Amino acid sequence: MRFTNFTNSVNPVFVTAPNIDTIVSLAKRRGFVFPSSEIYGGLGSAWDYGPLGVELCNNVKQAWWRWLVYERDDIEGVDSSIILNRFVWKYSGHEATFNDWLIDCRKCKGRFRADKIVDNKCPSCGASDWTEARPFNTMLQTKLGAVADDDPTAVAYLRPETAQGIFINFLNVQTTMRRKLPFGIAQVGKSFRNEVTPGNFILRTREFEQMEMEYFVSPTAEHSKLVDYWVEQYLEWFNFLGVIRENLSLYEVPEDERAHYSKRTVDVMYRYFPEREKPWEELMGIAWRTDFDLRSHSSKPTNEEGKRVNPDSTEDLSYFDESTKQRFYPHVIEPAAGVNRTVLAVLMDAYSEKTNDKGETRVILKLSPQLAPIKAAILPLAKNKPEIVGMAKAIKRSLQPVLRAVYDDTGGIGKLYARQDEIGTPFCVTVDHQSLEDEAVTVRDRDTWEQERVKVSDLAEHLQKRLKPYPVVVPEVS
Ligand code: GAP
Repeated sequence: MRFTNFTNSVNPVFVTAPNIDTIVSLAKRRGFVFPSSEIYGGLGSAWDYGPLGVELCNNVKQAWWRWLVYERDDIEGVDSSIILNRFVWKYSGHEATFNDWLIDCRKCKGRFRADKIVDNKCPSCGASDWTEARPFNTMLQTKLGAVADDDPTAVAYLRPETAQGIFINFLNVQTTMRRKLPFGIAQVGKSFRNEVTPGNFILRTREFEQMEMEYFVSPTAEHSKLVDYWVEQYLEWFNFLGVIRENLSLYEVPEDERAHYSKRTVDVMYRYFPEREKPWEELMGIAWRTDFDLRSHSSKPTNEEGKRVNPDSTEDLSYFDESTKQRFYPHVIEPAAGVNRTVLAVLMDAYSEKTNDKGETRVILKLSPQLAPIKAAILPLAKNKPEIVGMAKAIKRSLQPVLRAVYDDTGGIGKLYARQDEIGTPFCVTVDHQSLEDEAVTVRDRDTWEQERVKVSDLAEHLQKRLKPYPVVVPEVS
């Protein structure tokens, strides 16, 4: 048996899936991700998560929440509304600046993001005859209530980032949970952007999910060092999820590319396009947002003329430091990651092909056990034997309270193994004739295809031990 690692002439490096298309096809074939609204011709780059995809997404989000909110002692969680008061987006700067720059090709009338054009050539027709670039606000608008179409007071937005729901709740969380700096607030949820050019499967969509954490620190903290600290933490975390370090790189975002609130941003890039000359695309970003957001949402700050900068806020989001007796607006270090981009990176690095002695090639999804949608598949060797079927179903039911298990008898054993390998199930448990005699089953390992006999009474403990996520060491913030 041998595993295939894909290399190509453009990037002769270790890559686990040869391209995104391989994952798109596996995801559709096996029930991870389907094109959305397909029966009506689809909806430009929208995707639906199937039975296995929803489990994988949930496992990624749970792993993140466990890591930050449960295993550390300095982070709280929140779940804020998707639709917030419009003033949030005025004072966050999104109404004025959350723009993409648009240009039109005069020849083919195609419309593109100006910053994505390579060599000044139209990606559709190759011409270089462009209109002037103009800003296009990418927040998705809606109207609240039964109002007239042109009533401007009814305008609201679907949030383009989860972060603002954290900032406006800073004082609520800090006071109710009696927190002292430094501490963080984490949130996971949907965000929306009216992307000009969505595409590349779940990499860029108009509706997506974010896992964001705002880490509040003193204005005198070593902010740049803290950015480095969180970069290291996330590199380790992605590795823990099964993302290969060599397929990640760091990009120090130059000033002219940074968001209006950022004094430093480092993007963690993943090799989403191993077949291309430019293989990297952003997986997440870690930004030093300064005190911009808390200050902008506060009622007290004034301009040079002594006028309140934010006359609409009723609250001052400053913090009183008991030890120094000083009041200030905390600075923020923000690691912002996408659920969907994480899922895609995880799927690409889990993808492998294995050829057996007969020359047959099988896909094996080597997902980390903590992320695998199904942890154990219980398979009867003979589905026409009621005793074997009954025992297999009883084992499935007994395992379910401790781990996600399924019963499957829809094919011969070889086919069932192949199917479970392809969806990343770490263990197959086979009930055979002998099981009826010795109360034992065969446990087959996805990655090695090795089999061992385990007593039914020891099965849950045996599987749980082998499924345990690796321990993560969380160094102290200095
Ligand atoms: N609060 C900061 C913020 O939103 P961002 O770099 O714009 O920063 C953070 O977004 C992460 O959200 C990205 O690194 C990416 O993983 C994910 N993301 C952003 N736009 C996306 C889109 N259109 N489709 C899928 N994921 C997206």
